Amino acid sequence: MRLASKVALVVGAGTLKNTFSIAGQLGNDAAAAIRFAQEGASVICADRSLAVAQETAQRTCSEGGLAEAIELDATNSGQIDAVSQQVAKSYGGIDVLHTNVGIEIQGDLLEVQDDDWDRLMTVNVRASMATARAFLPLMRSRGAGSISNVSSTASLKWSPMQFLSYSTAKAAVNHMTRVIARQFAAEQVRCNCIIPGMIRTPHADALYPCEAAALEGHKLRDARCPMGRQGSPWDIANAALFLASDE
Ligand SMILES: NC(=O)c1ccc[n+]([C@@H]2O[C@H](COP(=O)([O-])OP(=O)(O)OC[C@H]3O[C@@H](n4cnc5c(N)ncnc54)[C@H](O)[C@@H]3O)[C@@H](O)[C@H]2O)c1
Repeated sequence: MRLASKVALVVGAGTLKNTFSIAGQLGNDAAAAIRFAQEGASVICADRSLAVAQETAQRTCSEGGLAEAIELDATNSGQIDAVSQQVAKSYGGIDVLHTNVGIEIQGDLLEVQDDDWDRLMTVNVRASMATARAFLPLMRSRGAGSISNVSSTASLKWSPMQFLSYSTAKAAVNHMTRVIARQFAAEQVRCNCIIPGMIRTPHADALYPCEAAALEGHKLRDARCPMGRQGSPWDIANAALFLASDE
């Protein structure tokens, strides 16, 4: 068991619900929560929607893992602080923080709206910062810890999908990760970023207005991947597991 006796918090642990499903049923984050539990961690599944967090926790428990669900809006720093105090009380600390919340808002430079820009930065960047800020002291007092953030290859290169705010926010997550990693490395707290390419999740279905468009969209997404297929949420979960482990 690679995470035996560790406590892991997955923020954004649910899977987006869409009206149709081409991609499958599981998001990156839900898969990571399940993988962590399969390797022996006690997993706290946090999401702004309690229902989707419960779904992940139930699936985890049905496979013999240990998990609980909590409602947490990662844009609410007060709520994050309260959860960190609760985790300290219930579990005595934390070993792994995996933050995965992410939204997209379409729009190039000439289309992007200030309100959308601010909302996206709050969800995609500030939430990672605020969760790391709240949970780092718990890792410090344990003498070690692992923080992982989920970014995107949109942070590294131009993409034909026009998501200026998303690409910019994910680039900010990459560098925030570096800065946190460098500052706390000496205290044995690691901070890493997973930078997925296109992954076949319900979130990707939701980029399209209808089932037929999503079917075509997934074909194009597959074709744009060098292996001719998108990644699976388990690819991200396995990367998250490696970073969470002592390996
Ligand atoms: N699917 C892809 O192709 C792909 C590619 C690159 C990067 N990513 C990144 O992977 C991550 C997860 O993607 P996914 O496809 O599993 O998406 P998803 O939408 O299924 O998962 C995101 C989860 O975060 C939750 N969430 C959103 N805002 C929140 C908030 N304020 N507080 C708490 N929870 C919140 C949602 O309820 C959802 O359960 C995102 O950061 C996304 O940008 C996805």
